[in-house]
Amino acid sequence: MSAIRLIRVLFYGAATQRGATKTQVRRVWSGCSSRSSLCGQEGAQRGLSLTAAASQFELSLTKPPVSGVVSSKLWNDMLEVKFGDGTEGRLPFVWLRDNCQCSQCFSVEGLGRKFLIDDLDVEVQPTKVEESMQGLTVKWSDGHQSEYSTNWLQNRAFTPSSRALHREKYALRKEQWGAEHRMKDFDYNTLMSNERVLLDWLLTMERKGSAMVRNVPQKDVAGQELIEHIAFVKQCHYGPHSPVINRPNTNNVAFTNAKLGLHNDLPAYEHMPGIIFIQCLAQHPGAGGESIVTDGLFAAEELRRKRPEDFKILSSTDMYFWDKGHANYSWEMPEFYKIAKFPVIKVNGNNEVVQIAVSNTTRDSHMDLPPQEVKKYYAAYKRFYIILSANAMTFKMEQGDMMTLDNVRCLHGRESYDADSQRHIETSYLDWDEARCRRRRLQEKFGCFI
Ligand code: OGA
Ligand code: ZN
Ligand code: ZN
Repeated sequence: MSAIRLIRVLFYGAATQRGATKTQVRRVWSGCSSRSSLCGQEGAQRGLSLTAAASQFELSLTKPPVSGVVSSKLWNDMLEVKFGDGTEGRLPFVWLRDNCQCSQCFSVEGLGRKFLIDDLDVEVQPTKVEESMQGLTVKWSDGHQSEYSTNWLQNRAFTPSSRALHREKYALRKEQWGAEHRMKDFDYNTLMSNERVLLDWLLTMERKGSAMVRNVPQKDVAGQELIEHIAFVKQCHYGPHSPVINRPNTNNVAFTNAKLGLHNDLPAYEHMPGIIFIQCLAQHPGAGGESIVTDGLFAAEELRRKRPEDFKILSSTDMYFWDKGHANYSWEMPEFYKIAKFPVIKVNGNNEVVQIAVSNTTRDSHMDLPPQEVKKYYAAYKRFYIILSANAMTFKMEQGDMMTLDNVRCLHGRESYDADSQRHIETSYLDWDEARCRRRRLQEKFGCFI
């Protein structure tokens, strides 16, 4: 590798002026387009611990940008950079080259990489590095020259804090709860008219997985209309909304007066609906029809702590879920036949629980298991269900209430009610991709991550 010239350009005060002048002449920075206005908030995080980084999301991120890159040196296959605010980061050469921000390598309009992996030399080395108030310029062994802004680099500096901040932008940390939990109340009309309140609901749903909406208009599409105000309805074979009543010639056990054990809706879909809206248009007046809700994440973590073997079985054994039937209403699919397959407790690559799928009615009688493993599986499943039930809360929704639940985390059920009851519930769904998308855009709009 040819010799690296590290030009230390800057400091505060007079040196800053010198650096800026130099840059004005030489640099054309790609900067941030309006579509990436999160960039305006990037770079605000300054050498935080992991805990402090997470709590920073409580604060506005409209802080001034960091003052340049003040030094850099080679460290193995990485560039060790020091930013003007004293924070540091180690940037792998291959990552820097792959993420060159020049217009040849990156589309500012499309906000996507144009540089092809075919053209990436994994052994690429810098031949010259320059620091300035604006960031870094790197000449590479493949002949290319790249430029990176300070904020862009600092927000991706591979530090525990920069990683924690982006993890939180991706998805907020979930706060577990038990039977003592009380859902936060929201007013329907305020949700529809006040975006700050809508953001509060979105944040609450991500953290707590549950909220109660009050004063919902007395119409069967009120849930659907709220979802359409947020993004769009997650369609399924039951259409955009489902009357949960005691239907003659029903196509689902839920649409009867039977007791429903704790469950997540529609696990017969490989991509289960993210959020369920359960609206009460008419409640059964006497005993019956009560709701029961529990935090599946809380229960899964308790199972992991107390019965690790059970957790292993439930998180590593695929179950089938199915849903077969015919339309009861014009907006339903005339004939449907779904089968999905995944474990009751789904974990990601970091072994974090990302989905719970429990449904007594649609858990299939087919099991893709050797028969000698079946009883052991049932025992683990039953112990999990006991934890779910032990930490559940029971209450009765009233007309005008709409419970909103993270359907891949929280479970719900209902007590049976009289067969001739006028009880009327409506359900609709919204996907998490759309809810988180709206949350990020509202956070950008209000200039803060709260
Ligand atoms: C359902 C359901 C709840 C209720 O339809 O899936 O859980 O209170 N309904 O009827
Ligand atoms: Zn480039
Ligand atoms: Zn349900």
